[in-house]
Amino acid sequence: MSTLPIYLYGNDVLKKKAKKVTEVTDADIKLVKEMFETMHESNGIGLAANQVGELKQILVVDISDMEVGEGTKPMVVINPEIVDEEGEWEMEEGCLSIPDVREKVWRAEKIRLKYNDINMNDCEVEADGMLARVLLHEIDHLNGVLFLDHLSSTKRTLLRSRLKKISKGDVETQYEVVIAGEPKSKSKSKKIVL
Ligand code: NI
Repeated sequence: MSTLPIYLYGNDVLKKKAKKVTEVTDADIKLVKEMFETMHESNGIGLAANQVGELKQILVVDISDMEVGEGTKPMVVINPEIVDEEGEWEMEEGCLSIPDVREKVWRAEKIRLKYNDINMNDCEVEADGMLARVLLHEIDHLNGVLFLDHLSSTKRTLLRSRLKKISKGDVETQYEVVIAGEPKSKSKSKKIVL
């Protein structure tokens, strides 16, 4: 098993909508395993397939290492669909694709979610608090939406120069990344900070 490089802000794949999964192939199972490993290695609590360059409606979540997530099982979520939302709360968020940027975002407090599991079984689950927030953040990714898109235009303007730096790869990360405009195969030019 291995980790996958994470596509940074500026890459088009982060602005695109992921496609529905109709069948889970062996390649998809490998992808899910690698997404988990990539997320854990980079100390993330959620990862969407767009972030590793795959436009498939697949995301993984694991908040079990957090105090608020104690006892929560890691989840593989395929073809998610929010069927109900309740309440609103604000919390600071970050994103592996947007290193060192953290901003407060309003999200629903409680959600009801339909999705397929790794065996393509139809599932429905209620989530609240942190789990709901991470799921909503990752579902946004599958729709080509970043947490930045929830910010006011004033806040986005203030972040502009930092975002420009990230899109040029002028940022340090503890994980392997793909910088905008650079083909994935040019592995030697990838910025790797260990
Ligand atoms: Ni993210």
